[in-house]
Amino acid sequence: MKKNKTIACLAALFMALGCNAQVAPKILGDRHAMLRLDKQKKFLLLPVEEKEEYAHIRVVRNNQLVKTLNCRLAVDKVDYFVPYEVGEGELFDISFNGNTRATGAINDFACWKRMSYSDSFDTKNVEKHRPVYHHTPQYGWMNDPNGMFYKDGVWHLCYQFNPYGSQWENMTWGHSTSTDLVHWKAEPTAITPDALGTIFSGCCVVDKNNTASFGNNAIVAFYTSAGARQTQSMAYSTDGGKTFTKYENNPVITSNVPDFRDPHVFWNAEAGFWNMILAAGQQMSIYSSKDLKEWKHESDFGAEYGNHGGVWECPDLMKMKVAGTDKEKWMLICNINPGGPFGGSATQYFIGEFDGHKFTCEDEPSETKWMDYGKDHYATITFDNAPEGRRVGIAWMSNWQYANQVPTKQFRSANSIARDFGLFEYNGETYCSVSPVKEMDAVRGQRISSPSETCEIVVQLKGDAQLTLRNSKGEKVVITYDAVEQTIDFDRRRSGDVSFSEAFPCIVTSPTYGQAKTLRIFVDRCSIEMFEGDGKMSMTNLVFPSEPYNKLIVKGKAKATIYKLKI
Ligand code: FRU
Repeated sequence: MKKNKTIACLAALFMALGCNAQVAPKILGDRHAMLRLDKQKKFLLLPVEEKEEYAHIRVVRNNQLVKTLNCRLAVDKVDYFVPYEVGEGELFDISFNGNTRATGAINDFACWKRMSYSDSFDTKNVEKHRPVYHHTPQYGWMNDPNGMFYKDGVWHLCYQFNPYGSQWENMTWGHSTSTDLVHWKAEPTAITPDALGTIFSGCCVVDKNNTASFGNNAIVAFYTSAGARQTQSMAYSTDGGKTFTKYENNPVITSNVPDFRDPHVFWNAEAGFWNMILAAGQQMSIYSSKDLKEWKHESDFGAEYGNHGGVWECPDLMKMKVAGTDKEKWMLICNINPGGPFGGSATQYFIGEFDGHKFTCEDEPSETKWMDYGKDHYATITFDNAPEGRRVGIAWMSNWQYANQVPTKQFRSANSIARDFGLFEYNGETYCSVSPVKEMDAVRGQRISSPSETCEIVVQLKGDAQLTLRNSKGEKVVITYDAVEQTIDFDRRRSGDVSFSEAFPCIVTSPTYGQAKTLRIFVDRCSIEMFEGDGKMSMTNLVFPSEPYNKLIVKGKAKATIYKLKI
């Protein structure tokens, strides 16, 4: 009796330490193990060590391969855990690719000791750099926003997601929703990898007239299947975007161009058919379709235009009014990496005409127009079917130069606040205006005397000015407006932790296209986004201060008001 009690106590202690006697791998070689999963609980918590090589896991059920995934299973120590949702009768067939231990030591890998089953996974917002009002994944890695659409009062945001680690891998579409573009709710994963490949970036459209025969108002998703080659596939949802079914005849578009991805589809009302734009090497390819399934190649744009310092990715194409005129023009968005104005990733755009077949650019071929002059603005695309003809976009708030290294763990990367796009003229040229969505006005709270980790700072500019945000450790960012040059600088060289990448500490500069009168600055723990009051400049930058900036020093011809945010 006493012995039983002792065993029970030891088992409880074992469980409390996160150990689970039931994880009993069969070691089959110095790099190979099998683990039969026990469906006693919902999740198997996988211990991750980021400096390790990927272990390749084949999930087998009833002798069939059901999925594969790559996870940096911990060898020496555990950085964090990721949840694997256990299915009935599953076996993990694991190959370790690392070479950090001598032969035979696989028995001692930290992952075996720390793997445990659990009915829950803690997604609480515990990291100090984790944004409060920006969209982030509950855990794991995120890059580009994908499949964004609006329907019945709900904004849907899918995203490039790694469910098995906080670095880029296992591309899957995560999914979140919002009714106000500020507060986001996590939804179940939308689209998972299959035999055609992992799921790269793409879009969703609302098929109001059932052109594809999936049903009225079906949501149709287009994404790149990243297999040996990149091909374009589709999936559809008849429950408003909750669940997606992959189209049985995928892929719908193929090519022999190696970089061939990120389809963006929209209904072209004037032409009376659908258009798709996607990145094909160093240009954008344009297609048309009546039924979303059969696509005709129409033309290519861009070989001689704009910046070609990197790969062209994540396009978008939209018509907008030019402010203060009765003109309408088309804007073609082209994200590029590397080749950005300050190194790494950035978003360029082209202004012109589009007739459903061909985009004709009005800019000089040698000219490059950047949408945002920060260092952390990439993969920007817009929502389909946004109300009131709005063009609402979201950018991934990072840069491929260091995205995998930024000092967070349980999650990595946030999206920008949503922005309203428009067009404005300056000196005979047309540019894209970028403003925080009007929904951000509703969260502006009472005035406060000093900045906090989440706040909005509104600055009235009357001439040259300098704003310094700093904390008691002397960490600071310095924002300088030069009224003669008509530029704004953002200096984050001493902003906090800048050590994780040589490319991180820097000063970035933006033109303001005329005098800047007002600045709106949004602070959210690890990000600072700045917008000129009329949308003539935006700058999106990450910062990793060891404690929040709690002091604002204003020099020169400026007056700043700080607002709390009601979130
Ligand atoms: C851009 C990108 C896309 C691709 C995706 C893969 O950041 O490289 O072109 O579809 O990321 O995650």
